[in-house]
Parts: sequence; structure tokens; C-alpha cells
Amino acid sequence: MRKRVLSGMRPTGRLHLGHYFGALHNWINFQHDYECYYMSADWHALTTNYVNTSEIDKNTLEMIADWIAVGIDPQKSTLFKQSKILQHSELFLILSMITPLRWLQRCSTYKKQINEDRNENLNGYGFLGYPVLQAADILLYKAHIIPVGKDQLSHLEFTREIMRRFNNFYGKIFVIEPKEALTKIARVPGLDGRKMSKSYNNSILLGENNDILKNKVKSMFTDPLKIRKNTPGHPENCVVFGFYKILDFKCSKKRSEECKIGMIGCVVCKSELVEILTEFMAPLTNERKKLISDKAYLDEILKKGCQKATEIASETMKEIHEALKF
Ligand code: TRP
Ligand code: SF4
Repeated sequence: MRKRVLSGMRPTGRLHLGHYFGALHNWINFQHDYECYYMSADWHALTTNYVNTSEIDKNTLEMIADWIAVGIDPQKSTLFKQSKILQHSELFLILSMITPLRWLQRCSTYKKQINEDRNENLNGYGFLGYPVLQAADILLYKAHIIPVGKDQLSHLEFTREIMRRFNNFYGKIFVIEPKEALTKIARVPGLDGRKMSKSYNNSILLGENNDILKNKVKSMFTDPLKIRKNTPGHPENCVVFGFYKILDFKCSKKRSEECKIGMIGCVVCKSELVEILTEFMAPLTNERKKLISDKAYLDEILKKGCQKATEIASETMKEIHEALKF
């Protein structure tokens, strides 16, 4: 039997290159050898966005279109929407009974977000329980491998802890310890050099329009010491170079040399990056446009995915009911 891979993304808006290189790239590769389940974590989106929910469903469809456009194959992978599989909420409820509050309060993502984000909506019970919901997602499918970003490691740690606690109380229902799979690219820089993130307003969207793409590359932070073409630069301090490394690994070595010895200036360097990025983006942009205009097709994929996910989720839930003697 092939091992199972499970991952998800919150449908909170358009996807960007950080999602692609930080996650989707891995998702695509796993499709060859694993049984893959990829979900739109719409209930997770609700933990931070519960006041205005009108965009969540639209975002899910656009997100699925992006996934398919970059190479997630709906014939190979099961794509589904979390909220359609009611067992997620049921297991979330059961796990919350056995979750000590302090496990959630000490969770690093929780502490970080509560401190950084002035959004007082985060003071709710749902947001505190975010890792419990994520553990339910993973355990329902008895997934072996969870491709995620580094920021999610504390949630996986929580998942393994709560699974052990469950097994201690009710018997060994969960035998597979879910393990994270990180991408090789540790960090995709945003235009300003911080991590690419929607909340920093420094991202390049998947399917970004050519003119905007050009302007965004123009606005990228470069080495502040490189004033003219012939001043020696420090590519390691430059966002443009960060993209050369990610997109065009071979040519990046040459570029690094040229920059250091003052053989190239930032203007030309940027316009070459625009070309590389435009070429990378073109097929994806066309494909996502086509997909988004075919809502019936996307709905059908989600419907099929939900059926398949429900089969597995309901099997696991049956075992859980027996273990709980319900
Ligand atoms: N919390 C994840 C994120 O923000 C999304 C997610 C929800 C997830 N459920 C999951 C990821 C289960 C992996 C497995 O990126
Ligand atoms: Fe960055 Fe290129 Fe300018 Fe060097 S030449 S600092 S790599 S933009």
C-alpha cells in the first residue's frame, strides 16, 4: 500500500510564489509515489476570518485552480474541501476534550500571532484550538507525510502528542506518526527582503499580470552598496539574486560572479529577471484563467474528492467510536 500524504492551505486569498516554492512544489512531486490528499482548510480560514466569510468559497475555487495550474493532477491526487467532510469537526471535538489548555497556550505559532497581530478577533476559542483542528485533519487520514512550511512544525509536534495521548486513553488507534516534509527552498524572499507573505504586502502572485510583475521586480530591494554597474555587489544581500537562485540555479552562479566583480548593473539584472519570471508565469497564467472560467469542472473535482475523502474519514471515525465505546 502506498503511503499517504496530506496537506492543506487556508483559502484566504490569492496564492503567491511563496506558496509555490515553499509548498506546492513538494505537493506536486509527492504525487508520483504517494497517495495524496490536498484540502482547502476553509474551517481554518474561519479561525481568523470569521467576521467576513463571503470570500472563503470563492477563494477555495481560485486556490484549486492555482493548484491544478501549477501541476497538481486531480486524477492522481484527491482534492477536497475540509468543511464538506463532517468527520473533521467531529474529531476536532473529541480531540479538544483531551487537549490540555497549556499545550495550546505554549504553541509557538499561537504566541507569535497573538503578539504580532493586533487583530483582537484572535482572542477566541477557535483560534486557540487551531492545532487541534489540524491534528484532526491529519489523523483522520492516518497520513504518513505532511508537506508543510517550517512555520507549521509546532502543529505537527502537537499532532504527535495528542495522538499519543489518545492512544494512551483509548487504545492504539493511531499507529502512524505523521512526519513533516519541508521543501529544499527554506525561504522565498518578498520584494522587501522579508519572507514573502500576504500580510507583508510583498508578494508576487501566481498568474500576476505582466505589467505588475515588471513593476514589482523593479521595486525589489537590492544590495544598497551597489551604486553603479561597476561597483562590486553583494548578491547575498539582494532579493533579485534570491530569485535567480530559486528560479535559475545554474545561471545564478554566473550572475553572482558578474555582480561581485562589477560586470553587471542592477537595471539589466532586473530586466533579465523579468524575462525569466514572465516565461515561468505564462503557462500558469493561461491555465488558471481557463480553469477559473470553468467553475463546473472545478466543482466536479471537489465533489469527487470529497467522496473519496469521506470514505476514509468515515472508516477512521468508526474505529474511534468503537475505541470510545460509543
Ligand atoms: N495550518 C496550515 C497552514 O496554514 C494549513 C493546514 C490545515 C494544514 N490543515 C492542515 C497543513 C493539515 C497540513 C496538514 O499552512
Ligand atoms: Fe542584485 Fe543583480 Fe544588482 Fe547584484 S547586480 S545587487 S544581484 S540586482
